[in-house]
Amino acid sequence: MALRHFLTLNDLSPAELDHVIARAIELKAEHRERRQSVQFPNYVLGMIFEKASTRTRISFEAGIAQFGGHAIFLSPRDTQLGRGEPTEDSARVISSMCDIVMIRTFEHSIIEKFAEYSSVPVINALTDDYHPCQLLADLLTVKEHKGDLAGLTMSYLGDSANNMANSYLLAGVTAGMHVRIAGPEGYLPSADIIAAAEDRAAETGGSVLVTVDAAEALLGADVVATDTWVSMGQEDEKEARLQLFRGYAVDEAAMKLAAPDAVVLHCLPAYRGYEIAAAVIDGPQSIVWDEAENRLHAQKALMAWLMHRSGLAVVEGLD
Ligand code: CP
Ligand code: NVA
Repeated sequence: MALRHFLTLNDLSPAELDHVIARAIELKAEHRERRQSVQFPNYVLGMIFEKASTRTRISFEAGIAQFGGHAIFLSPRDTQLGRGEPTEDSARVISSMCDIVMIRTFEHSIIEKFAEYSSVPVINALTDDYHPCQLLADLLTVKEHKGDLAGLTMSYLGDSANNMANSYLLAGVTAGMHVRIAGPEGYLPSADIIAAAEDRAAETGGSVLVTVDAAEALLGADVVATDTWVSMGQEDEKEARLQLFRGYAVDEAAMKLAAPDAVVLHCLPAYRGYEIAAAVIDGPQSIVWDEAENRLHAQKALMAWLMHRSGLAVVEGLD
């Protein structure tokens, strides 16, 4: 059985994505009933964090604990990762002692190299280019609120060259959605990412629209999403960025253009008054708290699926 990793949404076929989301819904229901049909006693999750986190750390650590396993939190400050040990050496060693590894880091190439040398599944817990675990939770949340994902229009506004924009694009079309991305010139997804998303859209019946016109992206949207204008690592550009993205805020005026029953996503942390108005994130269309909780259920389903498909565990009910 081939080792499976989850570095971007390209690592799941449309059918596999559907399967993981369906499994997450089951695991969430079990969690509510305080049942746990899936068990990984003594399994160890290595968690490498080179950037800060609240949700990702808690959801992965709680998730593996609920499976009966254990997590090890590894930060560059306290390990040799911060002293320049080569990624390939770290990958060989860490994967020889852990059963699954998640990594939050900077350049996407770091996680690709780690996965190349790892003997266990590797999960992208955010790189500069992608945040695919967040999209598992987002799609699960939209499915709970809206039913079938295929055919829905999902619009993302703001910094459209960042990890969340890329992830909305790829995940949305994998689920058969019509994805619209709006941001200023120079801050839009790269040609390569648009091409990958268009290939997926051709397979699923979804579509891609990338525009500088926020209103064009918003018109009639079923799902409206945004993210911080200043991602981790961009703190020095903060003042310029707050000006640059001003026309792409998800505020009450923007929401008037979307469908009346549109739902609002934000991966959090949110900065009220910048990328999203307080009235929107704290208002009736916001589903961000379900979205945050769903990180737990979606990643449990993902971990179980990766271990099952990589031949490291047998989980009943998984393909
Ligand atoms: N959305 C998200 O990944 O949050 P954290 O940075 O808190 O993990
Ligand atoms: N784009 C943000 C997402 C945080 C979860 C960042 O990379 O900081």
